[in-house]
Amino acid sequence: MKDKLWNGRFSERTDHGVERFTSSIRIDRRLYPYDIQGSIAHCRTLEKAGVISSQEADLLVEGLGRIKRDLDHGEFEFDDSLEDIHMHIEARLLQDIGKTAQKLHTARSRNDQVALDARLFLRDATGQVLKGLCRLRQVVVEFASNHLDTVMPGYTHTQRAQPVLLAHHMMAYYEMFTRDSRRFADSLKRTNVMPLGTAALAGTTYPIDRRYTARLLDFPEVAANSMDAVSDRDFIIEFVSAASICMMHFSRLAEEFILWSTAEFGFIELPDSFATGSSIMPQKKNPDVCELIRGKTGVVYGHLMALLTMMKSLPLSYNRDMQEDKKPLFETVDILLDCIHLFARMLPRITVNKQAMRKAASEGFLNATDMADYLVGRGVPFRQAHACVGKAVSYALSKNKELNQLTLDELQQFESDICEDIFDYLTLEKMIQRRLSEGGTSPDNVKRAIDEAKKALEQEKERGQGA
Ligand code: ARG
Repeated sequence: MKDKLWNGRFSERTDHGVERFTSSIRIDRRLYPYDIQGSIAHCRTLEKAGVISSQEADLLVEGLGRIKRDLDHGEFEFDDSLEDIHMHIEARLLQDIGKTAQKLHTARSRNDQVALDARLFLRDATGQVLKGLCRLRQVVVEFASNHLDTVMPGYTHTQRAQPVLLAHHMMAYYEMFTRDSRRFADSLKRTNVMPLGTAALAGTTYPIDRRYTARLLDFPEVAANSMDAVSDRDFIIEFVSAASICMMHFSRLAEEFILWSTAEFGFIELPDSFATGSSIMPQKKNPDVCELIRGKTGVVYGHLMALLTMMKSLPLSYNRDMQEDKKPLFETVDILLDCIHLFARMLPRITVNKQAMRKAASEGFLNATDMADYLVGRGVPFRQAHACVGKAVSYALSKNKELNQLTLDELQQFESDICEDIFDYLTLEKMIQRRLSEGGTSPDNVKRAIDEAKKALEQEKERGQGA
């Protein structure tokens, strides 16, 4: 057991159960590179303020550098009695360089220290998420470009509705992932605020220059209020909330792939390397990756709820409750990055059964709206045309035929104005081509959307935000 750095006023040793219960080292050790980066900036700030000498600052910075190398190489012992990563590093520094280490925590509290570490960690993680999403969006656009002539049923209520291009369907996900990117980029602005130098809650009596610390750590902004700085976890909640929305998109796409790869749909086949077998049924190829993406979405939502509930009603400023923020944050980052990378690798390797998609789009009266539109073109008011086609559908159902399989005579029973040209009007290609309204599924529209997406991704890359 190690001596505590705060035990001056205590006359009893901490209970073992309490040590285990309060320790967060198993989780927050992951913050070590950020903790050391922050401590180095803090040393330089203390040096600049004349609180420590340049020799002392150099000694501290070198010592911290050595600890970083040991941690990188796994040569570091962790112990619950030292609570968290901040105490571990400080205790080790004391061991390594002696009493100068005792000056490191001047003008600093673990409260502003942990807030800084979390922000540095999340700034990095958000950068990785943005890169990953940019790559994924590229993959989605490439997939869409390959399917500008693949016709499939579009669905509402999971019932076949109208034919669409597979490219159009996939570009819907491009839009979702683009919104996700923007949400993450926006939340990054609130993460990128420097809390250090606010100490425990009230600020510090030392003449430190917080803007200097911010410059050293590349923060564009300094937290304006010391009490807010140590008690704000909005940036984590915002990230996990953006992650929840992004996971919702992943789970919808995963769900579609699960459905589409069933024998009942037969629209796609997942790559073998992204599926798993059954321990009992030799014929099975299961879409476990997609299922787990769907399942892990629930885990991320749970983390969002945990964070919101943890922060609810907490009086200002820091409270130990807030230590519980790390597990949800880390796990959310890990799940999200896994999903982004797995999808980006899986998507180009999916086999599309174009014939099955086309067949499904040709059956089930997906041309009924177009037949009504045809009648509108001949002067029939839409509601009346709707009723007329409804009757035609009911008749065709009784004959076990599609609308376009009825004879002209049969069709004319419902509306005498119908002519021979209706058959051409009701082909899949024509139906899709006519959907020219902005954002609709016509090939021209979809091509344009793809071109614009490619351009946007290029620009993002030029600005250094891309993959
Ligand atoms: N391990 C703590 C956390 O993650 C660090 C801050 C501790 N502050 C304190 N006053 N006990 O929140």
